[in-house]
Amino acid sequence: MTKIIIKSDNKKSWKLEAEENNTILNLILKTSFNMPYSCMQGKCGICSCRVKTGKDLLLSEDGSYVESDVIKTCKTYVKYQSDRFVELETIF
Ligand code: FES
Repeated sequence: MTKIIIKSDNKKSWKLEAEENNTILNLILKTSFNMPYSCMQGKCGICSCRVKTGKDLLLSEDGSYVESDVIKTCKTYVKYQSDRFVELETIF
């Protein structure tokens, strides 16, 4: 199962496991990580993160691969089956 590592600007990090059909933001909200978010619809951009590693494991809502280094976690999924990891860094 693909692992997700998310780091905040205060250098704390959390490790999560990808879940099929669950956005990165939904996974983060299950933890104690204080993730900023608002619209949950990909409009405000507050949930954005910079992708440091594993961009090729990220999928957008329509199932296509993500091309940008900055993602909206409320609209991004992680490929469920992989022995690799995705590393993200918060922006806000
Ligand atoms: S919460 Fe608004 S873009 Fe993700």
